[in-house]
Amino acid sequence: MSTRGRTARTTRATEVAPAAVVERLVELACLAPSIHNTQPWRWRYDGARVVLEADLDRLLPAEDPRGRNLVLSCGAALHHLEFAARAMGWDVDVDLLPGDDPAVLASVAVARDAPRPAVREDLDLLRTRCTDRRRFTAWPVPDDQLAGLAALARRWGTRAEAVTTDAARIRLELLANRAVTAVEVDGRRLLEQDDWIDRPGPDGIPSALLPDDPDPLRARSRFRPGVLEDTRMVIHGGDRVVAIGGALDEVGSWLLSGRAMSAVWLEATRAGMSVIPMSQPVEVEGIRQDLARTVLADVPEPHLLLRVGWQAIGRSELPRTPRRPLAEVLRRG
Ligand SMILES: Cc1cc2nc3c(=O)[nH]c(=O)nc-3n(C[C@H](O)[C@H](O)[C@H](O)COP(=O)(O)O)c2cc1C
Repeated sequence: MSTRGRTARTTRATEVAPAAVVERLVELACLAPSIHNTQPWRWRYDGARVVLEADLDRLLPAEDPRGRNLVLSCGAALHHLEFAARAMGWDVDVDLLPGDDPAVLASVAVARDAPRPAVREDLDLLRTRCTDRRRFTAWPVPDDQLAGLAALARRWGTRAEAVTTDAARIRLELLANRAVTAVEVDGRRLLEQDDWIDRPGPDGIPSALLPDDPDPLRARSRFRPGVLEDTRMVIHGGDRVVAIGGALDEVGSWLLSGRAMSAVWLEATRAGMSVIPMSQPVEVEGIRQDLARTVLADVPEPHLLLRVGWQAIGRSELPRTPRRPLAEVLRRG
């Protein structure tokens, strides 16, 4: 057969990521934030695709009976994997909720047509991001930067908005306080929460990362405590809040919100901001509904609130929350 007149084309073979790259990606994905650092995920690699499964043994029955926070956490880990792959010069093809098994949340192929250099700055971000619960400075994040974070969350398929008006902020503060009070009187939730602090193994939250005074703004009195009810603040003056959610309150929507949370958190970290999730107002169903009805204009089903602010420049380094070893979370086959 004559080849005259045809344009010669080079077809480059697609390179599938080798197992060592996949292992490294899963390791980086596991740096993702998770509710109480439960790390409620399992990974499986069959030589072609990496599969992400929810680890339902790590569900919090009292605080998260439907698994919203669990799936948000898995969504964050999925986004971390995608982000890490791109930073290491690989492309990803993500299939959300493939198949019938409800525990299987995503399947990812990692490949590339041609080698690309790694983006060190992005890889560093995955290690820099953390939950720093120290008080933000009084200097608020400007509204346009906040709106930029909400817009980024929407690009990941969520409904998201920044809470910026004074009226909305006051209503949110009220609801956040109601949520904390509701949780404080719920013994099951308190016991469960305590169970994830200072665990002997590589999960949970070390108490070194939790503020020692739950109410640092309480005015010091010269007198011994009386009986006057105190005014407590959950959201402080310099804090700003971004709400992430969707049109629905179910697994597929939670997965998108988890990915968006991770995208927002990493970009906020890049810009020097600090992010602290505030999930209690969405964990109490009545308050979650009030939030949608009275605070948020465009998030019909809120999944998570993020407090955003600036930390003091001269702050000390915090210890990191531990992570489970790769062998515990990644299986071949
Ligand atoms: C869905 C979700 C909800 C969370 N809710 C809260 C919260 O209400 N309060 C809080 O202080 N931290 C919250 N966190 C932060 C986790 O405790 C934190 O990500 C985890 O301990 C791991 O630590 P790291 O973020 O420093 O890696 C939440 C995280 C996720 C993913």
